[in-house]
Amino acid sequence: MNVFVTGGAGYIGSVCVESLLDAGYTVTVFDNLSEGHRAAVDPRATFVQGCLSDPALITRAVAAARAEAIFHFAAHALVGESMKNPAKYFRNNVAYGLNLLEAAAAARVRKFVFSSTCATYGPPERVPMTEDLPQRPINPYGESKLMFEKMLQWYQQLHGLEFIAFRYFNAAGATEKYGEHHRVETHLIPNVLKVALGQAAQCEIFGTDYPTPDGTCIRDYIHIADLAQAHILGLAPGKTGFYNLGNGDGYSVREVVQMCEKVTGKKIPAVAKPRRPGDPPRLVAAANKAVVELGWQPRYPTLEAIVSTAWAWHQRHPAGYTD
Ligand code: UFG
Repeated sequence: MNVFVTGGAGYIGSVCVESLLDAGYTVTVFDNLSEGHRAAVDPRATFVQGCLSDPALITRAVAAARAEAIFHFAAHALVGESMKNPAKYFRNNVAYGLNLLEAAAAARVRKFVFSSTCATYGPPERVPMTEDLPQRPINPYGESKLMFEKMLQWYQQLHGLEFIAFRYFNAAGATEKYGEHHRVETHLIPNVLKVALGQAAQCEIFGTDYPTPDGTCIRDYIHIADLAQAHILGLAPGKTGFYNLGNGDGYSVREVVQMCEKVTGKKIPAVAKPRRPGDPPRLVAAANKAVVELGWQPRYPTLEAIVSTAWAWHQRHPAGYTD
């Protein structure tokens, strides 16, 4: 089966490409390398450097790849940035994404697998969060992903493009080859590990007065190889709809820092900072639907396993990717 992967040079996309290739799929990666890295593209994949803003290019690329399925990861994904520059999010994640949907429909692609987010829910009425909770995003990033989810439903109904959308919680960890390297790093685990690597003197904790047991935000961390496994399961014919992907366990920021100390064996000083705008206090998935309906079985369900794989990768790649 031929799979066309947008954003396949990015953090989550690169690992999904690796898993697809290991499972015997033929993969074309389409990426403009604005956030991704050429070195993160598995050499077994065909690489096309291009941008979703160009409808003719994307239509040609999908056709040339003889794509039977599309994995769509290419997107901007920073909550804070989206509050400052909403146009960037609506343009890239919605308008340019529509170019891809049109290309998929024109090429009669069978399956569209979309990288969505728990940010589509906004602050939840209850945790753990099930897929049927109301979706009331509180930032343009979450709104842009929700808009794309809605477009997918119409394209399925009107064009027969079968979709599956995964709402990720906090993607983390690494495989042996591919790991997390954002040009501007805002995520908790890589920032904490920078201290252990000697690249920063201390890490920062954004908010210590949340209504949680230790006052810091609680998140559900999920290993990227487990995300990849879910995507491959989602390729099966007839599998459609929305699925949360998380472990169902919440860890506070302080607990993450402590786990990083345990895994690295290093003292990691942390300083308390004010809250970061747009951060809900607690986001934890109920992901039973993916387990029951897709047969998903996370292989790295513990925070220790997740942090250990990230630490192993960062030690091997202290400067991340060099391109
Ligand atoms: N945090 C710190 N210090 C840091 C970095 C983060 O205290 O240096 C805190 C944040 O305030 C938050 C928690 O650690 O409470 C996790 O922050 P991340 O930036 O690692 O992750 P988020 O939960 O903000 O974001 C993730 C994805 C987003 C997605 C969001 C909801 O990275 O793309 O989940 O789906 F939108």
